[in-house]
Amino acid sequence: MTENIGSAAQALLRKAEDRSAVFGVVGLGYVGLPLVVEIAAAGYRVVGYDVKDAVVNGVNQGRSHIQDVPTERLAPLVRDKKVTATQDASALAGADVISICVPTPLSKTRDPDVSYVLAAADAIGGVVRAGQAIVLESTTYPGTTRELLMPRLERDGHKVGEDVFLAFSPERVDPGNPTWHTQNTPKVIGGVTPVCNRVVLALYEPVFEQLVPVSSPEAAELVKLLENTFRSVNIGLVNEMAIVCDKLGVDVWEVIEAAATKPFGFMKFTPGPGLGGHCIPIDPHYLAWKMRSLNYKTRFIEVAGEVNSEMPVFWVRKVAEQLNEQAKSVRGSRVLVVGVAYKKDIDDLRESPALDIIRLLHQQGADLRYHDPYIPSLDEDGRHLESVPLTAEELEASDCVVIVTDHSSLDYDLIRAHARALVDTRNVLRRKKS
Ligand SMILES: NC(=O)c1ccc[n+]([C@@H]2O[C@H](COP(=O)([O-])OP(=O)(O)OC[C@H]3O[C@@H](n4cnc5c(N)ncnc54)[C@H](O)[C@@H]3O)[C@@H](O)[C@H]2O)c1
Repeated sequence: MTENIGSAAQALLRKAEDRSAVFGVVGLGYVGLPLVVEIAAAGYRVVGYDVKDAVVNGVNQGRSHIQDVPTERLAPLVRDKKVTATQDASALAGADVISICVPTPLSKTRDPDVSYVLAAADAIGGVVRAGQAIVLESTTYPGTTRELLMPRLERDGHKVGEDVFLAFSPERVDPGNPTWHTQNTPKVIGGVTPVCNRVVLALYEPVFEQLVPVSSPEAAELVKLLENTFRSVNIGLVNEMAIVCDKLGVDVWEVIEAAATKPFGFMKFTPGPGLGGHCIPIDPHYLAWKMRSLNYKTRFIEVAGEVNSEMPVFWVRKVAEQLNEQAKSVRGSRVLVVGVAYKKDIDDLRESPALDIIRLLHQQGADLRYHDPYIPSLDEDGRHLESVPLTAEELEASDCVVIVTDHSSLDYDLIRAHARALVDTRNVLRRKKS
């Protein structure tokens, strides 16, 4: 089987087979740390590289800073020296495979910010040697792997597909999901050449339950963008349906539940306070940006983005209506926001629509408090807020309670019993009742 490929690729295939390959993982965050643990659990040794002191020190002490990675799982791997962490990029020279999991946010002008990918690529480019495989996992626009990474790997005369191997493999982890996690979510892999694909497939095969090869890094980059654009567009559609139903005086949840009884041709999405997290509000803009450079406007992405980003305004209007019922204005009213993480049961505040709701209410003069068991404090619009305990007194003292994130552990009976006025962006009170 190995006769058509060069010696560097053959050596990596052998190292995959006997698990002697050493992995380097660049970026030890929500994506990188779970990946480190799964790679080590598959029998490989892993060196994690991160630029943050606290992250590296924590991992080296066997302490996890990521909710989905229990310390009890990480600690034995560190103790057995299967996992180490470093801030020294030169340690990556010793790795046979380097998986890149650095952030890909948007710039202030909402264009792709690939500076972290470039910094990681430069760090790897400085140490790359023959016989290494590099896999980009960060979500990005089609062309990044080939246009940004490949030249940096080939700078010193290496040739991708011959002595170094390069692929894109999108991370699809869904933090907080109790069923689907890094190891059992099928892993898409698109190598720059067929040999790149073969090498990365062999190295990743012991780590993941199912691998899905595609023919190019661009196809793999687009898989991730299609998935997240699909979600953004469908969430935009139900959010618009929520606005439509509100204007027509129809219960949107009743409509959605009834539509979802159709056994084919309908997939249930639910409206809410807007989009949050590091993926859905951001990733589609990577594709939109790329297509703008090719003179094409991705209309679905734009429209979904507009509708979704209007939802916090919609919900703040609902708060104002509730206060109006009590002959009160937003200015001076005490409003309690319940749940601020961008989705339930996680501690991630990034891009959370709760921040928009808090900012809008604050700008209108509300006396704001919040409760979130996962987020002890937050800073928004120049203000520092600390989570208050969810008590009968706090609820009764609030002129309006707005539920933004439907954490499972919240006491919804308590909220129902003591809130004077309620805005429920997730329909959680009715769901819990039924
Ligand atoms: N969080 C998710 O749910 C999720 C899911 C799928 C894909 N993704 C994608 O995965 C990528 C990583 O996201 P994340 O949520 O893990 O980010 P994160 O912010 O949680 O972690 C990134 C880590 O990379 C480190 N880092 C930054 N620059 C570095 C550099 N030059 N060298 C080494 N380390 C560096 C940071 O210190 C941080 O610890 C992004 O492209 C994101 O879109 C995220």
